[in-house]
Formats: sequence, structure tokens, C-alpha cells
Amino acid sequence: MAAKPVAKRLVVLVSGSGTNLQALLDAIETTGAEAYGAEIVAVGADRAGIEGLARAERAGLPTFVCRVKDHGSREEWDRALAEAVAAYEPDLVVSAGFMKIVGKEFLARFGGRFVNTHPALLPSFPGAHGVRDALAYGARVTGCTVHFVDDGVDTGPIIAQGVVEIRDEDDESALHERIKEVERRLLVDVVGRLARNGYRIEGRKVVIQ
Ligand code: GRF
Repeated sequence: MAAKPVAKRLVVLVSGSGTNLQALLDAIETTGAEAYGAEIVAVGADRAGIEGLARAERAGLPTFVCRVKDHGSREEWDRALAEAVAAYEPDLVVSAGFMKIVGKEFLARFGGRFVNTHPALLPSFPGAHGVRDALAYGARVTGCTVHFVDDGVDTGPIIAQGVVEIRDEDDESALHERIKEVERRLLVDVVGRLARNGYRIEGRKVVIQ
């Protein structure tokens, strides 16, 4: 008899509007956690009062806020964040627009199972302004990258990418909105496949089984 599928536990981290979080919530709601392969067990943020947290609350999920300014140092914040996440015993942690670089302690606990989505085609345009930088550079295509987080800035092994054409009339906000449409679908697809199939990381290559 085939084993009953088990939903993997996800903690999602957000800093803003949370539309990527919403896409995950909607996919899990529509597909069912077991068929999708994962359920969200908590949503964390580095700031209060954001729509991302409101979305989680509306979905009835536990939330937590871990702010840098409430801690004596960046290292203490990193440890507190790692502990807050660990309390929910996640299989995977997803940074869905979480605008903080995590530190050593967090990576020691969640390295290899911490997924980030970035609004550019890495390794081009890493950092906090990936959309603006691609536009300013004059690139004709950009997109989004879902990758594992390592100790660099947007440098970890790439899992999947989506391409978006840059139009002559684009400004940062119009381009970002079109990227986010692709990004939400990509994130939902990737997280589901990682959760359902399992994966291994071989150097810079991610192999989903
Ligand atoms: C995404 O484009 C993500 O890649 C970037 O910030 C955006 C977050 O959007 N870092 P949302 O909060 O999921 O709507």
C-alpha cells in the first residue's frame, strides 16, 4: 500500500505586502496540504503592522515579529529569529519578500532548507533593488529566481528561474508587478515540488528528485 502523503511544515518569513505568501496560502487551500505537499505552520516578520502578517492572521495562522531594534546586536536578533522559527519545527523556511539578511546561527539551523525568492535573474542584480538595478542597467529581460540561501547576498544555489521581458515604457513599479506575477507561480511550483519530491544540493546544483 502506498504511504499516505505527509504535508511538510513551512514557516514563511515576510516584510511587506505578502502576495507571495498569499499565493502559497491559496495553493494549499485549493489543492489541500497533503496533495500540495506542505502546510504553513507559522508566518514571521521583521516588522509589525504589515499586510503580510494580516494575511496570515486572516488565514488563522500563528504569527511572530522579530525586530532587529528590539535586540542588543544583529547576532542576538539572528539567534532570536532562529529560535522563533525553530519553535514551529519547520521542514522548510521560505523567505517571501523578507528583507533581512540572516546570520550564522540561522544558517547553522536552517541552511539547505531556507528558500528565498528574488526579483531578478541571479547572479545579475542581487540585493535590495534587483528590479530597479535591471531597469537602470538597460537589460532587456529580467525575472525572478527561487534559490537556497547561503551566507552571501542572493548567492545560494538556484532552484528555478522565470523570465520577464522589460518594456520600453516600464518603470520600477510596473516591471515589479509583472515580475511578481511570474514569481508567485514559480514559488508555489518550487515549494510544492521540493516538499513532495525531496531534493539534494550538489555544490551549486539543486536536484529535485
Ligand atoms: C518580491 O518581489 C520579492 O522577491 C521581493 O519583494 C517582493 C515581495 O512581494 N524581495 P510580496 O510581499 O510577496 O507581495
